[in-house]
Amino acid sequence: MSCSQCVGIEFKFDRKKAAQELQGYRKDGPKETTRRLIDAVIAEGVSGMTVLDIGGGIGAIQHELLKEGANSSINVEASQAYIKAAEEEAKRQGHAQRISHFHGDFVDLAGNIPECDVVTLDKVVCCYDDMRGLVEESSARARRVYGLVYYRNHWYARIWTALDNFLNMLRRHPFRQFMHPPEEVDQILRSKGFQKRFHHEVGVWLTVVYERSNPR
Ligand SMILES: C[S@@+](CC[C@H](N)C(=O)[O-])C[C@H]1O[C@@H](n2cnc3c(N)ncnc32)[C@H](O)[C@@H]1O
Repeated sequence: MSCSQCVGIEFKFDRKKAAQELQGYRKDGPKETTRRLIDAVIAEGVSGMTVLDIGGGIGAIQHELLKEGANSSINVEASQAYIKAAEEEAKRQGHAQRISHFHGDFVDLAGNIPECDVVTLDKVVCCYDDMRGLVEESSARARRVYGLVYYRNHWYARIWTALDNFLNMLRRHPFRQFMHPPEEVDQILRSKGFQKRFHHEVGVWLTVVYERSNPR
């Protein structure tokens, strides 16, 4: 990730946004797309599993999977404010000691992050320019299940990202969004030994869950 995108992420996903997200989660639970990913992962079986959630935000996926019987979780987040919010919520829910937090760009940190049974990236690929690097490094850490939510290749997703990037450019905000072709993501995952188990499209979002053909 370029340094300006790191700065952009800290600006965009700041304390105010983290507090709003946390409030929304406490009131209504995970957002619809996040809930869909969680349910599809749970359908693969999470009891006793270890979870790696990349760009986990306030940690909704981790909190829900730990409540469903996952053993422990690793959160790798580029926003310091989101890590604090995820820690606060983990304490409130009584499972803070089962989550380890790492702050930074996952691709930079990947060499120090252990393999986990389940790896999730909920609306993270679309914040990252080097899709191939992110998908290859993250899927290499998935022993069994790999789940993603990211932009569909649809005209309104393209318009939305172009408009948001244009407005950010005008405002001199360094954050940018990226549309990566789902066929390329799929091709990378299949070449790494994953097969698709779940596929759902709604609005601008695509939710997919893959399983490793030969679990490690
Ligand atoms: C749109 S938010 C989604 C947050 C959460 N997954 C959710 O769906 O509510 C994208 C998140 O990904 C994080 N992120 C983006 N690129 C990252 C990277 N390379 N490594 C770690 N975190 C990253 C950002 O800090 C941000 O919290």
